[in-house]
Amino acid sequence: MPSAPDEVMARVRRLRREIEYHNRRYYVLDDPEISDAEYDELFRELLDLERRFPDLDDPNSPTRRVGGEPAEGFETYSHGLAMFSLDNAMDLDSWQEFSARVSKVLAGETPDWWVDPKLDGLAVEVVYRSGALSVAATRGDGRVGEDVTRNMRTVRNLPLVLEPAGVGVPELLEVRGEVVMSKAEFAALNERQAESGGKVFANPRNAAAGSIRQLDPRVAASRPLRFLAYGVGRVAGAASEWRTQEEVMRGLSGLGLAVPPQARLCATAEEVAEYFKRLMDEREALAVEIDGVVAKVNSLELQKRLGETSRSPRWALALKFPAHQAQTALRDIVIQVGRTGALTPVAELDPVRIAGVEVSRATLHNQDEIESKDLRIGDRVIVQRAGDVIPQVVRALIDERTGLEKKFVFPVSCPVCGGPVTRLPGEAAVRCNNLSCPARLEQGLVHFVSKAGLDMQGVGARWVRRLAQAGLLRSPADLFTLDRDRLLEFEGMGEKSADNFLRAAGQALARADLAGLVSALGIRHVGERTARVLAAAYEDLDALAAAGEEELMALPDVGPEVAASVRAFFGNERNQELLARFRALHLWPRGGGAAGDGRARPLAGKKFLFTGTLPAMSRSEARARVESLGGEVVSAVSKRVDYVVAGDEAGGKLARARELGLEIIGAQAFNELITGN
Ligand code: IVH
Repeated sequence: MPSAPDEVMARVRRLRREIEYHNRRYYVLDDPEISDAEYDELFRELLDLERRFPDLDDPNSPTRRVGGEPAEGFETYSHGLAMFSLDNAMDLDSWQEFSARVSKVLAGETPDWWVDPKLDGLAVEVVYRSGALSVAATRGDGRVGEDVTRNMRTVRNLPLVLEPAGVGVPELLEVRGEVVMSKAEFAALNERQAESGGKVFANPRNAAAGSIRQLDPRVAASRPLRFLAYGVGRVAGAASEWRTQEEVMRGLSGLGLAVPPQARLCATAEEVAEYFKRLMDEREALAVEIDGVVAKVNSLELQKRLGETSRSPRWALALKFPAHQAQTALRDIVIQVGRTGALTPVAELDPVRIAGVEVSRATLHNQDEIESKDLRIGDRVIVQRAGDVIPQVVRALIDERTGLEKKFVFPVSCPVCGGPVTRLPGEAAVRCNNLSCPARLEQGLVHFVSKAGLDMQGVGARWVRRLAQAGLLRSPADLFTLDRDRLLEFEGMGEKSADNFLRAAGQALARADLAGLVSALGIRHVGERTARVLAAAYEDLDALAAAGEEELMALPDVGPEVAASVRAFFGNERNQELLARFRALHLWPRGGGAAGDGRARPLAGKKFLFTGTLPAMSRSEARARVESLGGEVVSAVSKRVDYVVAGDEAGGKLARARELGLEIIGAQAFNELITGN
C-alpha cells in the first residue's frame, strides 16, 4: 500500500477544507460560490487521492458523508448532561403565567428571552472533541440515546470539523439540535417512496427520524436531512466564555453550525407573545415544519438559578401552535395512474378549510395506507395539512360510524387502460404493467416538458395531454417531430400557438443539457439534483447507461435505491429505443458540466483551468467561450485538467500545474484554440 507523499497529504487536507467550506456555503448559507460541476471536480479529486492512498483515510473526510456498510443495531450512548424535554403552553395565557412565575423566582428581576422556532424533527446531540465530530446520539429517554454517528455524518450541513471562530475551537462541545427535513423535500421523498413501494412517512418529523435511525448509512445519506442547532450540553475550553443563550447561538453559528434563522432576542414577555403570533402567521411559508416557539431565559447565570424539575427546565417553555387539522367526510376514493404506472388512491373530501386553505382532496398513498387506517367511504375523518405538504387523511373517527360506510375495493385492473395490474413482493405500489398505458405516457410527457425536465416553455401540460390522447405523442421523442399542419387541425390551436409550440421544442432540442435530459427521463428516484450529479460525472447518456451500480454509488447523493433504479431504466429495451431516437435527433448533450447547445463542440470533454489575468479578455468571457465550445472550466488543479491557461501574474496554481506536468498555454495559444485559427 503506497503511503502518501507530503504534498499529497497537504493537497488532501486542503481539498477537505475547501469542500467543507463549499458545503457550508451551499447547505448552511444557501449561497454557493462555485458551480456544481466545480464542486464535483473537487470531490472527485479527493475521492481519487483517498482511494490511491488509503493511509490518508479519515472518518471526518467529506467523502465519508456517503455512508458505509449497514450496522447490526445501534450502540447506546449516555449523554454527558441529561437532555431535558420542555413544558408546553397551549395558549398565551399560560405563557404569561410562566413568565410571571419566573420573575417571581428571580425576586422581581425580569429576564430577556431568547426565542426560536420549535422545530418538528428528531432531537440529536453532536459531540465535538478538539473541533472534530466524535459522536452523535439521539435524545432517547434524555439520559441514554442511540449512537447514530455514522448516519449523522451523512447530514450535509453538519460540520465534520468545526471552523476556528474568533475564540478558537473548544476542546469539548456538545451541540444539541434537531434533525429536520424540509416540507418540499419531504413531499418529494414521499412521492418517490410511494412510487417505489417504500415506506410512506406521515410527516417530515417521521421521515427525519426514520432516516437517522436507518441501519444502512447509505440510505441515510440519500435522504435530504439538515441539522439545526438550538443549544449546548457540556462545553470546555474556548467557548466556555459564553454567558447568554444569544452568545451560545452566535458562537455555534461562528463555528459552522446552522441555527434556525428566525431565532432572536426579546426584551420582554410581551415581545415573546408578539413573536409567537408573527411566527404563527409565517409558519406556512417556512421551509421546515415547526409546531410552536421555544422561549428561553437568555442569561445562562439566571438559567442556573432557576434550575430544572426532573423532566424539564424552569427557564424554558414551548408555546405550541394549534394543530393544522380539521374534520370532514370522506366522500369517495378515486385512483390516479402516475408515470411509473403506480395506482395512487386519492381521497375526495367534503371541502373544509384548514389553516386558511380549502382542502377537498388528499393523497392516500397506496393500498396499505387505506387498509392500515381502515378508511371507509362515508367515514368522518381527520385531515391535516402543513405548508406545501399535500393534505393527508390522519385517521377515521371510528366512533362516529353509522354502519353505512363502505369498504373500498382496490381495482384489479388499470382504471385507465383496463390492463392487468400487479404488486411486486416487497412493494406497496400496485402498478399498471402496460408500458403504453395512456396515463403513464401522458404523465411521463408532462414531466418531460416541465421545469423538472427540459423546461419547454410554450409547451403546456394541457396540450401535451391532448396530443397524447389523439395519438400524436407516443414518446417524448415525438415532441421534436410534430407536424405544423397536424397541430393546426386541433380546435383551439391557432397559428401562433402552433409556432410557439414548435419553437419551444426546437429550442429545447438545441439547448438541452445532460442534467435536464436525465431529469426529464423520469427515472425513478432521480430528481433534478441527482440528475445534475449524474450529468457531471458522465460524458453522455451512453456512458451513464453503461455505469455499474457500485460505480454509481460512489457518487455524492447516490444510494443503493438510486443506483438500482438507474440500472433498471437503461436496461429496459423501450428506453434503449428512446435513446436511439434522441441520438438520431441530435438530442445528445455532453456531460461533465458542458453547456449543451447542439453546435459544433471542438472542445467537448476538455477541461480548462485559468490562472492569472488574460490581457484581452475577462475571466467570465473566457469561461463563456470555452463552455460555448463544449469545454469545461474548473478551479482545482488536478491531473484531469487538459489545458492550464496562464495569464499575467499567474500564481500557485501554475506551480502545481507544472509539478503535475499539465499542458500550460499562454493567452495567444488560448485565442487560437477558441477561434480555431
Ligand atoms: S430547547 C432544555 N429549542 O423539543 C431545553 N428544543 O420538548 C431543551 N425542540 O427534545 C430543548 N425545537 O427536540 C429546544 N428551538 C428548540 C427546539 C427544541 C425543537 C425539541 C427538542 C426537545 C423537545 C422538548
